[in-house]
Amino acid sequence: MAPQKAGPLKHLLPPLPYDYAALEPHIDARTMMLHHDKHHASYVTNLNSALEDFPELQERTASWLLLNPSALPDKIRTAVRHNAGGHVNHSLFWRAMSPTGDGAPTGLFADAIRRDFGGFELLKILFDDAGAKLFGSGWVWLARTQQDGGRLEVSTTSGHDNPLMRGHFPLLVNDVWEHAYYLNHQNRRADYLKSWWSVVNWEEATDRFERSDRMAEEIRESEGGSLLEATA
Ligand SMILES: [Fe+2]
Repeated sequence: MAPQKAGPLKHLLPPLPYDYAALEPHIDARTMMLHHDKHHASYVTNLNSALEDFPELQERTASWLLLNPSALPDKIRTAVRHNAGGHVNHSLFWRAMSPTGDGAPTGLFADAIRRDFGGFELLKILFDDAGAKLFGSGWVWLARTQQDGGRLEVSTTSGHDNPLMRGHFPLLVNDVWEHAYYLNHQNRRADYLKSWWSVVNWEEATDRFERSDRMAEEIRESEGGSLLEATA
């Protein structure tokens, strides 16, 4: 019998790691449902559509596509940047939160925060301020740079860009597109940012901090969380 030819690989929407209502009252269930099932899902759908005519790109991870724009045909470069970025960033975002959050960084991670920001409370102020000041839609990040032995940095990106595009490894991320908070907080983005600390998944952030020493090896499939053999 002839070997079965593998079909095209497809990016898949990763399941939420908790229930829609698990982050209430900080993030309401309806926002989570729309955000994951509609917004994130549409980035995945649009990414797969953009790649439809380019089988050689269909085996690439979302992270690779985001980090290698020069390898993309002109006609899909912008669509891939938006949708691969939307997919990678939302995949990170779901994992950055937990219903059992509300802790604080510990160990070497806490030491690095103290060294680079003066402490956790000061990091929060800087992070919230950056998120509040970002004009329009985007993301606020805590990332590890490649400078000064891996200095930590708070930054923002517009659209769905990611600090990996500048060689910085993301440790923690919050989505400050209006779709992330509008139903519950309306225009009060600062309230959302403040409330969000109650659902931060410090286990995940600490794990990412520990892996960030091996940055080059760790820009991997899980960043996109998605490039699995198509099952549907
Ligand atoms: Fe979002």
